[in-house]
Amino acid sequence: MSEKITLSVIKADVGGYVGHSSIHPNLMDVAREKLSRAKEKGPLIDFHVTSVGDDLELIMIHRKGVDSEEIHRLAWDTFVAATGEAKRLKLYGAGQDLLSDAFSGNVKGMGPGVAEMEFMERKSEPVIVFMADKTSPGAWNLPLYKIFADPFNTAGLVIDPVMHRGFRFEILDVMEHKSLTLSCPEELYDLLMFIGAKGRFLVRRVFRKDGEISAAASTQKLSLIAGRYVGKDDPVLIVRCQSGLPAVGEVLEPFTFPHVVEGWMRGSHRGPLMPVSFRDANPSRFDGPPRVIAAGFQIADGHLIGPRDLFDDPAFDRARKISNEVADYLRAHGPFEPHRLGLDELEYTTMPEIMKKLEDRFKRE
Ligand code: F6R
Ligand code: MG
Ligand code: MG
Repeated sequence: MSEKITLSVIKADVGGYVGHSSIHPNLMDVAREKLSRAKEKGPLIDFHVTSVGDDLELIMIHRKGVDSEEIHRLAWDTFVAATGEAKRLKLYGAGQDLLSDAFSGNVKGMGPGVAEMEFMERKSEPVIVFMADKTSPGAWNLPLYKIFADPFNTAGLVIDPVMHRGFRFEILDVMEHKSLTLSCPEELYDLLMFIGAKGRFLVRRVFRKDGEISAAASTQKLSLIAGRYVGKDDPVLIVRCQSGLPAVGEVLEPFTFPHVVEGWMRGSHRGPLMPVSFRDANPSRFDGPPRVIAAGFQIADGHLIGPRDLFDDPAFDRARKISNEVADYLRAHGPFEPHRLGLDELEYTTMPEIMKKLEDRFKRE
């Protein structure tokens, strides 16, 4: 066992209440019960169960490292148990993110989303877990860029002597299954060329120049995993804060700009990412708009002190107001792009059938 602790955030949609808008409290109870047992007997040191929209979120601390079979199995078994309850209540899409019937050592590629990091707990260890619904992992690219590379967002990049050296971004090409690490500020323009294309290049991890891990995001894309549409790849993100890392307020600041992300209705539309408090994390208008919550914790000897509901602050009211205005504006486009995604990005489509039906009526021009 290492001295380091591991923070694992593993999530899945195992049934919606009502439709895809929220989660039934029974599913959270089932998950808490399962994880309580794992805390009593090991391997967990501590955990917190929460939700955003229709996603069940397991936040766990242990000493087993990232990609631990034992922890992934625990998460998988918890989702299977919650699915049982979802089926009993005939909740919507019960078990939708569990793509396989049998666990094979790691939940990656099996449906659930995973963000994990292992580190030495500092004298004081503030972390933020961001969890979003009705969007996809590319939603973190813009905020991560602002947090770790934009001096107009993060004052520490200019005036904190440790942060002034910059950060390294590990990016994943989800199409080619390759990764690349770029060092900022030196390679800032190269970085932006990639991560501006947030459907393909995802920021997976961010490191300080001394190697300290600073952020880890889930990069699973359900549609690519299953080769067909099987539900949204709603993402999670862990960011460590303070003492030579971005301050809590610097990490939250990018969310004052509700940037446009992919997801929303039928995973096939663009909409603003609205920062909301825990109580408002139930997307209902046109199954959205996409939204994000921020759970703040202090970690003390592997225990999660919290969470604090960090978007429960009137300072984010303006972002919410802008989100509603942008939502109205985009909704007014109805089935037209750019509200609706391009033909290649749609997660629901009738195009092949329509094409087939009208094949003979096309005239060569
Ligand atoms: C988006 C989402 C929902 C559903 C929509 C249709 O991530 O989960 O918008 O796509 O409610 O759902 P079905 O096809 O299950 O009726
Ligand atoms: Mg759902
Ligand atoms: Mg969801």
